[in-house]
Amino acid sequence: MEFLVKSGTPEKQRTSCVVVGVFETRRLSSAAQKLDEASGGFLANLLKRGDLDGKVGQTLLLHNVPDVVSDRVLLVGCGKERELTDVVYRKLILKTFQALQDTGATEAVCFLSELSVKGHDLGWNIRHALLAANDAIYRFDQTKSKKDSPRHALRRFVLTVPGRREVLEGEEIVKEVTAIAEGINLARDLGNLPGNICTPTYLAQQAIHIGERLPTLKVNVYDADHTDIRDMGAFLSVAKGSRQPPKFIVMTYQGAAEDEAPYVLVGKGLTFDAGGISLKQPGGMDEMKFDMCGGAAVIATLQIAATLALPLNVIGVVPARENLPDGSANKPGDVVTSLAGLTIEILNTDAEGRLILCDALTYVERFKPKAVIDIATLTGACVVALGKHASGLLSNNNALCHEILHAGKESGDRAWELPLWEEYQEGLKSNFADIANVAAHREAGAIMGACFLARFTKKYHWAHLDIAGTAWLGGGEKGSTGRPVPLLARYLLDRAAQKSRSKA
Ligand code: BES
Ligand code: MN
Ligand code: ZN
Repeated sequence: MEFLVKSGTPEKQRTSCVVVGVFETRRLSSAAQKLDEASGGFLANLLKRGDLDGKVGQTLLLHNVPDVVSDRVLLVGCGKERELTDVVYRKLILKTFQALQDTGATEAVCFLSELSVKGHDLGWNIRHALLAANDAIYRFDQTKSKKDSPRHALRRFVLTVPGRREVLEGEEIVKEVTAIAEGINLARDLGNLPGNICTPTYLAQQAIHIGERLPTLKVNVYDADHTDIRDMGAFLSVAKGSRQPPKFIVMTYQGAAEDEAPYVLVGKGLTFDAGGISLKQPGGMDEMKFDMCGGAAVIATLQIAATLALPLNVIGVVPARENLPDGSANKPGDVVTSLAGLTIEILNTDAEGRLILCDALTYVERFKPKAVIDIATLTGACVVALGKHASGLLSNNNALCHEILHAGKESGDRAWELPLWEEYQEGLKSNFADIANVAAHREAGAIMGACFLARFTKKYHWAHLDIAGTAWLGGGEKGSTGRPVPLLARYLLDRAAQKSRSKA
């Protein structure tokens, strides 16, 4: 799908469909008014018959509207004008796409971007219309024998801006969102692929392919015997139960001076998590193919940073492996030595994410990072605490924490802070090692996971995003969401903007 912006008046659009809004009750938006005037009151007359009163998400497709050049006009109900929130706005775009799907329209010129959405500007409207459009058209059929034929003929989606002056700004945003959308789709594809295809080796190959396409992105993949890896006792222990070799993926994007401190992203890349000897219940275990979504988000974000040529240095690290039961797998009670030298008693082999992350988090110290964010489907407890709307955020630095919360709000890919107070650390005491990988109690599971990681991140500013609730949806809509790619992309774009502001 091609995204574009342009300015113009609705009745003169030579296109297959013009999309305009109608508020409750039967109040025409300004674009709809223009169509109405051009057509001699055709729309107002029609609405009087009661086919559409403007409730959120109602749609009405019209053909042959008099004196309007476009083949079709799609009216979209926008609800009460004063209650047009971001949630409603995204819904309108989704409904627009659902309605367009059933038509033969190859291009749509959508005036909904000119509506005024509570607390947001035109730029936000364009960004979020495009992201919602991208979500609406995403399909995953790589593992079906018959590919879904595209359900709609739509090739081009054009958003309008009020005047010529706004076109340039709009075009910048389209460029930016197109790169972000490609990243989101990549993360979704990697997440949706099953564990027998998307293995650690596959994940590494994908990262390498991306690096081959983007000259500013360097990709290294390390095997278990590499000098940088062989002392990662915690990371390596998780792979012992698997026939798939572990891979340690390092992606380096250089967009700034070589000596400038990088932003480092670390993503959990468990291509399948059966729990190991602490085996999971069978119900819903298939969803543990999504346990690499943190890693996928990191790979996707590095692709975005390089595509947009952000003036930053960004490093992505993805420790990838499977967690399966086997004769040589980790056993409850085993003690392993992490790269940091801390010994860990593995009380539960299903708390494997923190075992692979702790070594990756120690590894990244060498980059002297400006900030480190790890992204992980770490705990079921986080899903209990926050559900699917917010990722859990825990951090050892206030400023970083606020920047991430802000990026989440702006991108609509929200995070919510949980505490990381000293007192919680007590729960990780072990009689046999320096630290246990799980607490003896079941309370505060998401916090305890982060507390474990906090022991390995004292040397830099660090934040942990627990995406167990946000990275995928279950039930009838089962599938990867691509989150938190929108948040991470926004975070880096904000840092880039901050840098150019401080230079000016
Ligand atoms: N990948 C899971 C976390 C998970 C579980 C995410 C369910 C989404 C839904 C992680 O490796 C895990 O198994 N965590 C354990 C930790 C526990 C043993 C302390 C969990 O959440 O049960
Ligand atoms: Mn697990
Ligand atoms: Zn896991």
